[in-house]
Amino acid sequence: MNVPLLDLKAQYSAIKAEVDAAIADVMESQHFILGPKVEQCEKAIATYSGSAHGIGVSSGSDALLACLMAEDIGAGDEVITTPYTFFATAGAIARLGATPVFVDIDPRTYNLDTSRIERLVTPRTRAIIPVHLYGQMAEMDEVMRVAERHALIVIEDAAQAIGAEYKGRRAGSIGHYGCFSFFPSKNLGAAGDGGMIVTKDAARAEKLKVLRGHGSKPKYYHRVIGGNFRLDAIQAAIVSAKLPHLDSWTAARQHNASRYDQLFAETGLVRSGQIVLPVTTTDRHIFNQYVIRVAMRDALQADLKANGVGTEVYYPVPMHRQECFDYLRHDAGAFPESERAARETLALPIQPELTEEQARHVVASVRSFIETNRSPAVAERATVGAAAK
Ligand SMILES: Cc1ncc(COP(=O)(O)O)c(C=O)c1O
Repeated sequence: MNVPLLDLKAQYSAIKAEVDAAIADVMESQHFILGPKVEQCEKAIATYSGSAHGIGVSSGSDALLACLMAEDIGAGDEVITTPYTFFATAGAIARLGATPVFVDIDPRTYNLDTSRIERLVTPRTRAIIPVHLYGQMAEMDEVMRVAERHALIVIEDAAQAIGAEYKGRRAGSIGHYGCFSFFPSKNLGAAGDGGMIVTKDAARAEKLKVLRGHGSKPKYYHRVIGGNFRLDAIQAAIVSAKLPHLDSWTAARQHNASRYDQLFAETGLVRSGQIVLPVTTTDRHIFNQYVIRVAMRDALQADLKANGVGTEVYYPVPMHRQECFDYLRHDAGAFPESERAARETLALPIQPELTEEQARHVVASVRSFIETNRSPAVAERATVGAAAK
């Protein structure tokens, strides 16, 4: 049986008429960059996220970059974030000449361990970027408490978490800025690159709109240096066409996650600690990924591939161990939970179209590998790690 990690063709065939009509509309208008389709998408995403303003941008990466630029963050400044994330988070900070200051993760949620943030604040700290990894929001109360106490800017990296909730509030709506990615594999994906920033603050929204067009206002007059961070109308039109389906896709992902939880519980591998399942600590986890923890991760991944099951490792190398960040001088072991997560985690197929038969095949394949190879427990060490904080 074949179980792809993601099946975008299945999604497209279910909503083909709507997506094709949205693309045809843009072609008829011949208005390709920004314009009415982008404005419509900005309003829709801002409303969906419980925020006031949306600013369409070229990608989730550029969303992060533009927010840091809007706050004039650069050389000499420090920004606190997690080392266990996609490169864009730390990359945006470093590209501007600022220093990413890493804080290790909570081993249960893989999000930054907010109890460790405050001790890292220095007179140079300007911002915190919490990442809502895999579709679950970070502990935002503590992030905001530290930020308010030290007058720091909070940029939520919600690239993987559109529609996720923390204490009834949506991802992107709590900090000063929220950044989304419409990369095709995201829960709300475009047909190429695209992103969105949301903010409650009208002045910040205005500044971002100027920055995304090379800092030009009026046209060809540049008071600030920006970049080409503009969103294409085709991508905006596709995102708008897909948005009405997002809640039912999220519900299907949550259903698939519960089914995995139950099927894995029945194998006995959770009780024996040989597999650790995702832990939900917030109101609405949108399961961009369903990530398990196992001891023999790489061998399991190869075995699943041989059994037709697509998986992915998000992420094999934490940021502080990336070659380009050698200059930050972090040794191996500096952030032990991030390093352990990088060795032990594996994302399983969780897309809305996953069938029960496919889910059973995934679980049976994992079980067969773990039992055959007598894979050791990982759960106990996770508990020890958490207690050692
Ligand atoms: C956590 C995180 N931040 C930022 C990004 C960057 O988004 P994009 O690929 O749209 O540039 C991604 C996308 O993969 C992501 O997962």
